[in-house]
Amino acid sequence: MANVAVIGAQWGDEGKGKVVDWLSNRAEVVVRFQGGHNAGHTLVVGDRVYKLSLLPSGVVQGKRSVIGSGVVVDPWALLDEIARVGAQGVAVTPDLLTLADNASLILPLHRDLDGAREAQAGAGRIGTTGRGIGPAYEDKVGRRAVRVADLADPQALEARITRLLAHHGALRRGLDLPEVDGEALKRDLLELAPKVLPFARPAWRVLQADVRAGRRILFEGAQGTLLDVDHGTYPYVTSSNTVAGQAAAGAGVGPEAVGFVLGIVKAYTTRVGEGPFPTELFDENGRRLGERGREFGTVTGRQRRCGWFDAVLVRQALAISGAHGVALTKLDVLDGFERLMVCTGYRLGPDLLDHLPAGMSAQAAVEPVYEVLEGWGESTAGGRSWRDLPAAAVKYVRRLEELIEAPVVILSTSPERDDVILVRDPFQG
Ligand code: GDP
Ligand code: IMO
Ligand code: MG
Repeated sequence: MANVAVIGAQWGDEGKGKVVDWLSNRAEVVVRFQGGHNAGHTLVVGDRVYKLSLLPSGVVQGKRSVIGSGVVVDPWALLDEIARVGAQGVAVTPDLLTLADNASLILPLHRDLDGAREAQAGAGRIGTTGRGIGPAYEDKVGRRAVRVADLADPQALEARITRLLAHHGALRRGLDLPEVDGEALKRDLLELAPKVLPFARPAWRVLQADVRAGRRILFEGAQGTLLDVDHGTYPYVTSSNTVAGQAAAGAGVGPEAVGFVLGIVKAYTTRVGEGPFPTELFDENGRRLGERGREFGTVTGRQRRCGWFDAVLVRQALAISGAHGVALTKLDVLDGFERLMVCTGYRLGPDLLDHLPAGMSAQAAVEPVYEVLEGWGESTAGGRSWRDLPAAAVKYVRRLEELIEAPVVILSTSPERDDVILVRDPFQG
């Protein structure tokens, strides 16, 4: 019996929410370990659609969940989301949700800074979600963040805020932002504290008990490997590590507790925001992928950029996380394409590369080398067994497995919870 870590293997929005929701059924606790409410995970259950940003997707199945210390938490967004899913009939009580007491908070001043920097950067902007993620992680690493536990200690809170504002005051003056009222910030946080603190406890202890009791844990990654602050298309990345190695650190468990690493892979490629994207399409095929795949961001509503499957990026992403297998999603979106292209390498000047180089200009300059695969006219949508798939679709999946050097253990054929083909149960290792 293994625990399972779900990791995005592209630029996010691979369908992690759907896969986590489906796997939750087999798990006892679901853990978020990085990112924040920049994530947008969509779950479709019959005629109900749930959009989760901060809460682990297991809450919809009534599973116990943990927000680990690797997550940056906007406490207002957390309470809003609890209320929002509550209105959809999903009860999130302190019995069910643990919020790590050592997690860092996202405050309104982080959102201000995110917005002001993006506005100032003009064409050089990252295209962030505007949630204050980057500035909050900067303050965490800079050792001046306000953390969940500070909400229970007004004196410590005051000291944290004073220190934080000394730093932000200088930044804000440079960006023409108004000064922050420290007293008002403290008052607002203390007012919110009684609503947040019932969820706060040492997440590592909760998880230690789960590990000792042999309860199955599902780690839910946000974003994707190409958005990882080390391994992604830097600087066009998010500000956290999104790879499987982060699951242990961001939850507070040992690396052996992570178990089976499941990469989530979309059958084509998308990206929201700025930055290099070698297989991006600007033609009718790209428009068609966007339309058929409904590629609009869950968090910001922005149109996602679309392109052909890039096996180079996925192979690299799976290697970095040590993935044992993948869940391939949105195969149905490819129904009706006559031919499908798959990127198998890059050309950079005279060189042929089998990986994405680290340099910013090299990343922008690589040209995809394509292999052409036969498409299929039949529908795969809603398929729940290999027999439901046309031969060309099976061939496409088999070729991707060879190129990415990992087996497809789960195949998803629609947004709906149960439209899944299970090849091998990741919890069985
Ligand atoms: P996440 O951020 O990785 O959880 O992915 P998002 O939820 O942001 O985006 C994935 C979108 O694709 C959501 O709207 C899902 O409902 C949808 N989706 C997931 N799996 C499939 C699939 O196999 N086929 C289709 N057509 N849609 C899917
Ligand atoms: P899920 O979990 C797709 C992108 C933003 C931007 C960059 C930095 O739903 O897959 P940030 O606000 O994090 O500083 O923005 O990262 N981004 C995502 N793209 N899916 C996500 O999450 C994302 N979270 C952040 O668009 O390019
Ligand atoms: Mg998403």
